[in-house]
Amino acid sequence: MAPPMYVCICNALTERRIRAAIAEASPRTVAGVYAACGVRPQCGKCAPAIADLLDEHASSALAIAAE
Ligand code: FES
Repeated sequence: MAPPMYVCICNALTERRIRAAIAEASPRTVAGVYAACGVRPQCGKCAPAIADLLDEHASSALAIAAE
């Protein structure tokens, strides 16, 4: 099993945790993802990576909806 990949070091958020929060709470913004994870942004360096995960989720949802 691969080790957890940390996306947000300040808040110890793994990619898996962020993906779960996006799937469960359907946040539309990076700020919403932080809130869904119960944290606040610190340095903000992870924001682009979180935005990419949001975009990826939205793209996959659109692909499923188009089927
Ligand atoms: S790495 Fe996420 S707030 Fe700093």
